[in-house]
Amino acid sequence: MRFILVFIILIVQLYADKDSYNRGEMLFFANGCSGCHGPSAEGSSTYPRLANKKQVYLKKKLIDFRAGKAQSVSQQMMSQFAKKLSDKNIEDLSYFLSHHKKVKYEDINDDVLGGVGS
Ligand code: HEC
Repeated sequence: MRFILVFIILIVQLYADKDSYNRGEMLFFANGCSGCHGPSAEGSSTYPRLANKKQVYLKKKLIDFRAGKAQSVSQQMMSQFAKKLSDKNIEDLSYFLSHHKKVKYEDINDDVLGGVGS
């Protein structure tokens, strides 16, 4: 009996995660995030990669940006976009980005952060 319960919970959780991924993907494009961070959240020389960074990190960043915490002009710019996001939006976006499927680690050019905000 307990096994069946655990099984059901696992299935429900799996579907919930899938929904979160899809909602996050939709939000990423609908809010113009892709315009700066790239269609695969891969980043560029000016904007940081977001794909496959840790969920807790992305979530904290977005919550801080939304609260207006910014130490540079580029962070202020980011704040404008984060202000529009609800808690649920941040949850879905950070889930989607941290589980991003389109970018492989080998493809990532991650020397961008050093150049950003400095
Ligand atoms: C106008 C360009 C622009 C748009 C649009 C934009 N961002 Fe950003 N974003 C930036 C820049 C620039 C930074 C780097 C800020 C800094 O200096 O730390 C950044 C940083 C971030 C970070 C922190 C990344 C890290 O590794 O520190 C996250 C998370 C993020 N953006 C998510 C989003 C999301 C989600 C959206 C859409 C709602 C979005 N961004 C839209 C320009 C943009």
